[in-house]
Amino acid sequence: VSLLPYNTFGIDVTARYFATFGSAEELRALLQLPEVQQAEKLVLGGGSNLLFTRDFEGVVLKNEIRGLETTLEADGENALVRSGAGESWHGLVEFTLSEGLAGIENLSLIPGTVGAAPLQNIGAYGVELKDAFDHLEAMEIATGQLRRFSREECGFGYRESVFKGPLKNQYIVTSVVLRLHRRHQPNVSYGAIRATLEDMGITDEPTPQQVSQAVISIRRSKLPDPKEIGNAGSFFKNPEVSQQKFDTLKATYPDMPGYTVPGGVKVPAGWLIEQCGWKGHRAGAHGVHDKQALVLVNLGGAKGAEVHALAQQIIASVREKFGIELHPEVNIL
Ligand code: EPU
Repeated sequence: VSLLPYNTFGIDVTARYFATFGSAEELRALLQLPEVQQAEKLVLGGGSNLLFTRDFEGVVLKNEIRGLETTLEADGENALVRSGAGESWHGLVEFTLSEGLAGIENLSLIPGTVGAAPLQNIGAYGVELKDAFDHLEAMEIATGQLRRFSREECGFGYRESVFKGPLKNQYIVTSVVLRLHRRHQPNVSYGAIRATLEDMGITDEPTPQQVSQAVISIRRSKLPDPKEIGNAGSFFKNPEVSQQKFDTLKATYPDMPGYTVPGGVKVPAGWLIEQCGWKGHRAGAHGVHDKQALVLVNLGGAKGAEVHALAQQIIASVREKFGIELHPEVNIL
């Protein structure tokens, strides 16, 4: 089975087996098949955070569990929104806005599915999934049992969760429940959001819809649309360095941006990569996006191994110039 339609990087590889499931019961039945039990398993949502470097010899399980449901709490102010893991993330954002609920508007237009969102605690423009997260349900692959995970149990960090760490490849998310609000302080901590709202002529406190529109317009201006140019969003995480190291580098590179986090300073990887001269770089069918150096692109027909080799070159040049180690954010297979 060709995986070309199932990964936003647009890499043309194949999977030995491919199956879809539309409910937890269907998933449980699949997990009981001997072929599935014996094979390496890859659970696919939107395929928007993946780079295939070779054919996949195992079984791809595509999550198509649907369903969106709002339960208003007794106070009428807060609501729990349950979403099937196979729903599109942006579709969920639009649904919550249409229900008059706020909390995830800053996460508008992020590609991928709801079920993939907790794995890497998706985040953008000052908000992370964990901020609106209530709990999720996931099926244990070994037993077929459903288990509920609270926010604490998910172990969320920057682009991290327990499902990428100690519980990697052990659970498949079937549904996610968010806690959202009728009245909600908008998060406009990100300078670009404030500037865009101003351009839109919005000077009062913005509505969640307006914040969503601002985020969509920023994303469209910087990030390539996977339908047009193959990509998986940020290819690397933003690295964290010690305050001391940051100060030393800042003496040499006074323009170096950075923001303080507990334990150090986070530096935008896009800036480091741009300083190494990679922004807009092209080699055959692959390269570095010209409007955001953190995004690697497939202009059509690139091989995953080529993109991976480019990533290694970028890591090496950032290490050499700044002594900073970049780590991929994308799942490389
Ligand atoms: N910058 C450059 N050159 C570039 C790109 C960025 O100099 O080519 C510098 C600029 O100083 C800019 C700063 O980096 O002000 C931050 O850039 P941007 O606002 O585009 O955000 P980012 O740090 O590059 C992160 C997330 C994005 C998320 C945005 C907005 C990671 C790995 N990436 O990018 O997430 O949308 O912030 O919050 O944390 C994703 O994970 O796939 C993703 C797109």
